Amino acid sequence: MNGLKVLSVASELYPLIKTGGLADVAGALPGALAGQGVHVRSLVPGYPAVLAHLRKPAEIIKLADLFGGAGRLLAAKVEGMDVLVLDAPHLYNRPGNPYSGPDGLDWPDNPFRFAALAWVAAELGRGLVPQMTPDIVHAHDWQAGLTPAYLHYGDGPRPGTVMTVHNLAFQGQCAPELLGALRLPPNSFTMNGVEYYGTIGFLKAGLQLADRITTVSPTYAVEIRGKEAGMGLDGLLRQRGNNVSGILNGIDTGVWNPNGDPYVPVAYERGKFAAPRARNKAHVQERFGLNVTGKAPLFGVVSRLSWQKGLDLLLDAVPALVGGGAQLAILGAGDKALHDGFARAAAAHPGWVGCNFGYDEGLAHLMQAGVDALLVPSRFEPCGLTQLYALRYGCIPVVARVGGLADTVIDANEVALEAGVATGIQFGPVTREALEIAIRRTVDLWHDRTAWRKMQANGMKTEVSWKNPARHYAKLYHDLMA
Ligand code: ADP
Ligand code: GLC
Repeated sequence: MNGLKVLSVASELYPLIKTGGLADVAGALPGALAGQGVHVRSLVPGYPAVLAHLRKPAEIIKLADLFGGAGRLLAAKVEGMDVLVLDAPHLYNRPGNPYSGPDGLDWPDNPFRFAALAWVAAELGRGLVPQMTPDIVHAHDWQAGLTPAYLHYGDGPRPGTVMTVHNLAFQGQCAPELLGALRLPPNSFTMNGVEYYGTIGFLKAGLQLADRITTVSPTYAVEIRGKEAGMGLDGLLRQRGNNVSGILNGIDTGVWNPNGDPYVPVAYERGKFAAPRARNKAHVQERFGLNVTGKAPLFGVVSRLSWQKGLDLLLDAVPALVGGGAQLAILGAGDKALHDGFARAAAAHPGWVGCNFGYDEGLAHLMQAGVDALLVPSRFEPCGLTQLYALRYGCIPVVARVGGLADTVIDANEVALEAGVATGIQFGPVTREALEIAIRRTVDLWHDRTAWRKMQANGMKTEVSWKNPARHYAKLYHDLMA
């Protein structure tokens, strides 16, 4: 299995730009696939944060006409990765995050900003830079969704295409009048093309026209064939049948390593984790203004604050959590209602509930190393990475039994405890009542020190690296080439 060349196209790429798990995955897969003999080049938009990160980039080619302005393609090495950056100031040189301005509103020209990314990916696929022509173009999420469409409707030979869905809730739609301006041919506006309920659907286009579709866990791959999780695309996904598969995410065990994590004050490893974790817990309690005590279990959340993540249920469960003698630390950014709600909960329970609002990579690491249990009560979760970090850090994941959460945590039911294989707590259905019961079960288990330590040790032994997922992707690529 040697010598395959893949162009990976994504709107985020750790450590250059990150708003969520997509960045972690796009940033870790290239290294993991190198071990499988697959060479990955990663194409990413030239947001200010990305450009600021590059040292001595090489200009590969100028692009005169990129949807309203000129741009160029830069190449650089970033932490071992071969990165191609689409530098197009008229599209990407803006404040805010990759999708919206400082006012929180999506940029109105997002269709063009991400069409440009897909367009350049497709051109590279067709040999724009001969020495960089890939065998396969791998598009991630809606921002890259038009890539398979441009390749499908263009002329001449094309590389194989893979479309990976990290989250079906974000689909990227725009008005049909933009078809021509997006450089899509009139005949593409059909049910078997880019048309989606009367609009142009970016993710829809990718799912319809890519050779293979993957998503980020086997359970989510099944769930999205149904109405609720399918979010309007279930029919298409059922139709594409055997071309849809689920490959579980891994994590970068170099970046996420409790024994050598620069954000973790007291390092530790398997077998010797209890005392260091207790000291890290005190650091977390201090950072969140909580009472510094070893006598109460500490729950943590590291999450986008959004409906997907089920944190409104947790907000309702705060009185039960605190009433059960536990503390809660929330790190998150997102919906204002959730933000305000947790701020009120912290004010109502000083010393017991604490919040840090905003995005803080270092604090996210510290929390995994110090909180006793990580809550992930998601309504749906394509894969979820924070529960994987938790496992690796000896923090017990308490998760909704959905998507990738169902695939990665072994619930501490009687049988699993007896067999000595439990790694966390799962609950379902995703309701406040079930969550409160899960919290109570967690507190009870925390008081049983032997059972708790055993679960921590099991979690730390769990294989969460990219080793297995990378093998599955390599096989998918090779099957596609065959
Ligand atoms: P999603 O991609 O749906 O947000 P994941 O669990 O796959 O969920 O990935 C979330 C990633 O973002 C993890 O790396 C997590 O640590 C990080 N993260 C989420 N919220 C924050 C935050 N407020 N501060 C720092 N890191 C965060
Ligand atoms: C998405 C999903 C999350 C997944 C991540 C990386 O943001 O919400 O579940 O882990 O992508 O694949």
